[in-house]
Amino acid sequence: MCPDGVPLPDHGWKLHVSSRSATYSELVEKLVPLLLAEGCVFKLARSHQVLDRLNNGYSAPASVGKAFTIYPDQRRVRGLGLELAELLRGHPGPRVLSDRRVDQDSPVYYRYGPFRKAGDSGARGRFAARIDGPGGEEFEGRAGLHYEQPAWVVDPFTGQRPGEESAPEEPAVLGHHYRVVEGILESARGNVYRAVDQRDGTKVVIKQARALVDETATSGDIRMRLRNERRVLHALKDCPGVPRFLDHFRHGQDEFLVTSDAGPVNLAEDVARNGPYPIDPHPGAGDRRRLETLGRRLARILLDLHARGVVMRDLAPKNVVIDGDRVSVVDFGVAGYDGLHLPGGTHGYAPARQRRDEPPLDTDDLHALAMTLLFATWHMRPVTREDDSDLPREHALRAIRSAHGEEPAGVIGIIADLLGDEHTARTALRRLAAGELPIPPTTESPPTTESPRTAEVSGATRTRIRTRTEPSR
Ligand SMILES: Nc1ncnc2c1ncn2[C@@H]1O[C@H](COP(=O)(O)OP(=O)(O)O)[C@@H](O)[C@H]1O
Ligand SMILES: [Mg+2]
Repeated sequence: MCPDGVPLPDHGWKLHVSSRSATYSELVEKLVPLLLAEGCVFKLARSHQVLDRLNNGYSAPASVGKAFTIYPDQRRVRGLGLELAELLRGHPGPRVLSDRRVDQDSPVYYRYGPFRKAGDSGARGRFAARIDGPGGEEFEGRAGLHYEQPAWVVDPFTGQRPGEESAPEEPAVLGHHYRVVEGILESARGNVYRAVDQRDGTKVVIKQARALVDETATSGDIRMRLRNERRVLHALKDCPGVPRFLDHFRHGQDEFLVTSDAGPVNLAEDVARNGPYPIDPHPGAGDRRRLETLGRRLARILLDLHARGVVMRDLAPKNVVIDGDRVSVVDFGVAGYDGLHLPGGTHGYAPARQRRDEPPLDTDDLHALAMTLLFATWHMRPVTREDDSDLPREHALRAIRSAHGEEPAGVIGIIADLLGDEHTARTALRRLAAGELPIPPTTESPPTTESPRTAEVSGATRTRIRTRTEPSR
């Protein structure tokens, strides 16, 4: 909305008002008349759907909480901000990470930034996100996950200039005991840290769940996923290849889960640094980074999980942690156990039925295992398209066929079977875990002289790829 005659500068202080989806209509009713009367320019999420997308933390991480963006007359920033904070006291919304908050009890935030979308070119044809100061200073105006302020402006609420801030945003000791040593992941949904338990020196990993981010009416917000993870880790407390649950605490409105540190890198990082996992490594290269070894370790973990009634539902390269010879599976936020699960998963790794939120099945993890192993050996993510949930599987099978023929042997044959029907996939998992791989069809001997076992295996695999490429149920 742009009331007639309001001149909009290129940049300045803007206000954001955050909201949960559930209370958004109420907020709109309160705020719109007030802003219209104020005569200032503002924009708002045009539907609950748009707001949910802003608040989910992955579509546009720096947009969480920006239900309303207000571009006030610069002389009115402080007055209007305080007025809104008073009016909206107690109104709940996720925290806006790029901004400062006017008042801790109110969902009103502010920052200095561009008044046009990044990408619109400014008056001098420059990228509008970059702001030039009066003394030739430059300020990157794009919002991120931290508050930033140009050197030449003074905070209209606190009177501070940049660098005069007092406390750091995140404390160095979390939950009274855990000294943060390193950030693993910074995310609008919650950061993940490596820390040390000061009581006994144990190395731990701490995962944060930010309040009210990615909230849905039926499955709660990210904190619910953290609680589900705790529940599932408890059920897996004696399971090898899974981190141990250690602690769960609140800090402010956010929640934190503490688990044992499973190792320094995940599979995605390992492949990026050390290259793909070969199917047939050079002689003497060792067994550790061999695709079959990785597959066998993961298959054994999955068999253990499934034996305890857990379906992981999010096996993907970033959720596999590598520590030398030790392989672990992490991230049980959407796992299913005891008749309960939360919607979610990683696009391309989760099968079509999981994306349709059908009840969890052990074979969902087998689809994800196949995709994870293909990533490990090809260093390629599954091919995905928003409107075609079965495409990753179909594409993977076509790629296997073009690279390895109709009758892939060894671990590739197993991967193809993991993408097959339920019975075939389960058999493949057991064989992978036991190290019983399909024998390659002999190239030296003509088909008539195949050994009976090879003939049997090849016979079975001959029809395999064809059946596998039929759509899964
Ligand atoms: N227990 C752990 N030990 C070692 N690394 C971990 C552990 N838990 C998580 N990580 C690392 O942190 C990253 C993010 O953690 P994850 O639980 O997957 O959070 P998210 O739900 O945000 O994906 C993982 O990709 C992995 O690299
Ligand atoms: Mg993860």
